[in-house]
Amino acid sequence: MITKTSLLDEARDILAKNDHGDWTQPTAGLYPHQWLWDSCFIAMGASHYDPMRASREILSLFRGQWRNGMLPHIIFSEGQKYSYGPSFWDSKSIKGAPHNIATSGITQPPVVAIAAWEVAQTMPEKQRKNFLEKVCPRLVAYHKWIYNERDPEGSGLTVLMHPWETGLDNTPPWMYVMKRVEAHRSTQYKRIDTDFVSKEERPTDEEHKELVALALLHRKYGYDSKKIIENSPVVVQDIVFNSILVEANSALIKIARELDKHIPGKLLVKFRQTKEAINTLWDEETGQFYSRDFKTGKLLNIPTSSTFLPLYSGTVSEHQKEKLLELLFDPHKYWTQDPVPTVPADSVYFKPRCYWQGPVWINMNWFIIKGLKRAGLKEDAQYLLEKTEQLIEQSGFREYYCPLDGSGCGGGSFSWTAALAIDLCSATGHSRP
Ligand code: GLC
Repeated sequence: MITKTSLLDEARDILAKNDHGDWTQPTAGLYPHQWLWDSCFIAMGASHYDPMRASREILSLFRGQWRNGMLPHIIFSEGQKYSYGPSFWDSKSIKGAPHNIATSGITQPPVVAIAAWEVAQTMPEKQRKNFLEKVCPRLVAYHKWIYNERDPEGSGLTVLMHPWETGLDNTPPWMYVMKRVEAHRSTQYKRIDTDFVSKEERPTDEEHKELVALALLHRKYGYDSKKIIENSPVVVQDIVFNSILVEANSALIKIARELDKHIPGKLLVKFRQTKEAINTLWDEETGQFYSRDFKTGKLLNIPTSSTFLPLYSGTVSEHQKEKLLELLFDPHKYWTQDPVPTVPADSVYFKPRCYWQGPVWINMNWFIIKGLKRAGLKEDAQYLLEKTEQLIEQSGFREYYCPLDGSGCGGGSFSWTAALAIDLCSATGHSRP
């Protein structure tokens, strides 16, 4: 049990322990490299006590940027054992990928412009300008890449092509689509995640094989989005990615405005389209949002907490807001003893300790807390924030938690849990670390 006062100290210790100079690993052993959205959460947490170090965390992500603008979901460091490392992705054989550093060939939710803007707020004026000058063109390149390569319909609703791109690796709606992947090709890869975490808390072998086989398919097509969209059975208009993109686009506009820089008009049109297109992922019958299977055009109507992300992006009507809140505050679904489970507790897919199929993840709670505030529900946001703090006090800085009893699951000393605890504590007025 951690006390409130030591929570911030411990959180900082974890970030220091996982610090590799200019970037931070999610946790030793299980995730020894740099992950895209992890570093964004880490930077927002670190900005409360070391804005310059936080700005370097963001800048370090651009080491991995591909010439086409893509930011990869992993940047590899040398000499760390990992199941799907440099030779698995083989990025250096791809024209336009960095040749001095190995990366994966897919992206992750585009939190980076949001994090850059948040970090900049904490920096002294001169350094802030300098930092924003550096990140702005690179962020524009990333957002251009998203729209150039991942908006096949031209509707502004972008597609993802691998569950690892969602950051919610084995979330049920994606696993449903993944059944289309021929998994036998992956048998040559041995998983080592179960050396660190018990098997019941990780994706099944079957799911794992499908994830690996799909990544190999991407490699076969040289990570060319157009070819993959045409040939892969798994292409999804993801509700989490698109909602975050709306906020990231707004952050990018603020950054450009501060620098008096121009964002191309064509891109601004896209930004508006995405904001409007979120609504097409709404299902009136069940009163919630879903991701859409791009191959069939149908909504993937398996409920998950991803439905709450449009509250974060502020892209909901009053009616949708009411429906979503009804769902969120249902104790049989999401308002459990320790909210918010990633899959509702009454779902047939609910597994309270298994990865993205039920457990509480601190980054999802962080999005939902912000969404509640945005929807004007300050007291409920505060309640969830305090419950989230208590969860960490009770069980430590774990990767995820059981929503029924608050026990910790997955990896320990998890960086984004530490970083977002700092960010949340600062919102409750607890003293800065
Ligand atoms: C897992 C999570 C993903 C995260 C990564 C590193 O793969 O599903 O969201 O970025 O671990 O922490």
